[in-house]
Amino acid sequence: MKYKGFNDILVNNWPGVSRVGPDTLRMAHHAGQQAGRTVLDIGSGTGFIAIYLRAQGWRCMGVDVNSAALQCANRNARANNMKLEFKYSDLFSDVSGLFDLIVFNPPLGHTSAPAAPLEFIKSLMPRNNRVVIAIVYFFVGKQRRELLRRFLEQAPRYLAKGGVVMMSLYRPEMSLTGSWKTEVLEEVNGLRVVSLKRLD
Ligand SMILES: C[S@@+](CC[C@H](N)C(=O)[O-])C[C@H]1O[C@@H](n2cnc3c(N)ncnc32)[C@H](O)[C@@H]1O
Repeated sequence: MKYKGFNDILVNNWPGVSRVGPDTLRMAHHAGQQAGRTVLDIGSGTGFIAIYLRAQGWRCMGVDVNSAALQCANRNARANNMKLEFKYSDLFSDVSGLFDLIVFNPPLGHTSAPAAPLEFIKSLMPRNNRVVIAIVYFFVGKQRRELLRRFLEQAPRYLAKGGVVMMSLYRPEMSLTGSWKTEVLEEVNGLRVVSLKRLD
């Protein structure tokens, strides 16, 4: 599908891969407003955010733990004639270098591979249904917060000087961002797009 308003990029969803949703579009929109040249997209899914930023001239790396997502994102990059690689990494495990921007739209559920069955079910779910999200969060919220903690602890090592982290977080998760200067860029149904800078 072609996304008007997002440089007309072509991005297709795949079964088993987290779908492009309103949260994806919000993250991509706000990421595109940032100053900088290099971006790391953690949990890249279909590749939408990295592909959009590449179309805006950024140098991008996308990583995910879901092999179906990596295949999907690499195919979407080729459909846009982009030299853009999506590769396996569990958060930063296979990443090196410093980035002006690190984007993370974290999963609601699974935090480690292989979790293909759950990812498949989630890819068919209505992403913005508050009841579904509340039920899923009840079961996986603790696991998600652990992933967020791990991410926030490791991210500073990969941020260039003055760099920014951009994440989507539910309101109660804001307490995890203690040692960061946070700015809420947008909030819809309790889900925030947040930019984070190091305090030191
Ligand atoms: C909510 S989706 C976001 C996908 C895409 N960035 C978007 O906004 O549409 C979360 C993604 O994070 C990936 N993921 C989950 N745990 C991960 C981990 N430990 N390291 C890297 N990616 C992970 C999932 O496979 C999934 O593709």
